[in-house]
Amino acid sequence: MTSPAPDPLPVARTVAELKQLRPEFGGETVAFVPTMGALHEGHRSLFRLAAKHADRVVASIFVNPLQFGPGEDYARYPRVIDHDLKACAQEGVDLVFVPSVSDLYPPGRQVLVDAGQMGTVLEGAVRPGHFNGVLTVVLKLFNLVRPDVAIFGEKDAQQLACIKRMVSDLNVTVDIIGAPIVRETDGLALSSRNRFLSSAERRSALALSASLRAGARHSDVADVLEAARAHLAQTELDDPSFRLDYVDLVHPSSFSPVPSDHVGEAILAVAARVGSTRLIDNVTVQLTRPGSDGSAVAAGRQQPA
Ligand code: PAF
Repeated sequence: MTSPAPDPLPVARTVAELKQLRPEFGGETVAFVPTMGALHEGHRSLFRLAAKHADRVVASIFVNPLQFGPGEDYARYPRVIDHDLKACAQEGVDLVFVPSVSDLYPPGRQVLVDAGQMGTVLEGAVRPGHFNGVLTVVLKLFNLVRPDVAIFGEKDAQQLACIKRMVSDLNVTVDIIGAPIVRETDGLALSSRNRFLSSAERRSALALSASLRAGARHSDVADVLEAARAHLAQTELDDPSFRLDYVDLVHPSSFSPVPSDHVGEAILAVAARVGSTRLIDNVTVQLTRPGSDGSAVAAGRQQPA
């Protein structure tokens, strides 16, 4: 006996279609995974985590023009919708929202969400306005999808912190859950942009996760930063196409740099351009005490693979 064919994946291509399809979930709980598509194993892990937190999983696929600055890679950002819908179907996603730019941003809009001070440091300093664009689309998507929980990858740690801040500051009734970074076996964090790397660039890109590992072997601010910077500086010397944007130790929720005597949790965040591709990565470290040495691994430090 053959098993019945699975239901086709419902896809809402307009806000109007989403408003028709969303009520079909009735009183069931909804977990939401917003994406920009070009789905990889990291996104699949978000869908699987979402399924553990709610009855239904809704995904969105939308390359959000508002979060790209002039000269950034909006035009070349990969758009592979057939591949993405297949991945959503394979992961048991219940509904995919794939709006067009003109539908989500009709002419005449004026209001944006402002990420505040935490949206102006690190990524926000290199990409001015980026987090305002992210928060604006995420709030719009929350209002349309009306999820109970939403899942975001920890690779975009500053984005996750800004979204948590927005939800708290604006009393948005969604629980935000962070999902661990998924890495290749050699340590490279999965990213939709990895496909742009040549094999030589991919080798240089390994410097990001390697620098985090080098930093995470230490237990005070100065040593962590020195070890990570030394590794990145060597890569800049070896490969002129590798340009560091920043590496810093920041507070996990405010993203402001931690003071040199900081003790406790911090995020070691790095961003670099490899050729024409910009990559980010981070790791959470537990700093023990100023000037201390010894094994912070014992204090629960998370290590990139
Ligand atoms: O992380 C992303 O893919 C995007 O920034 C998001 C959250 C889908 C908003 O466009």
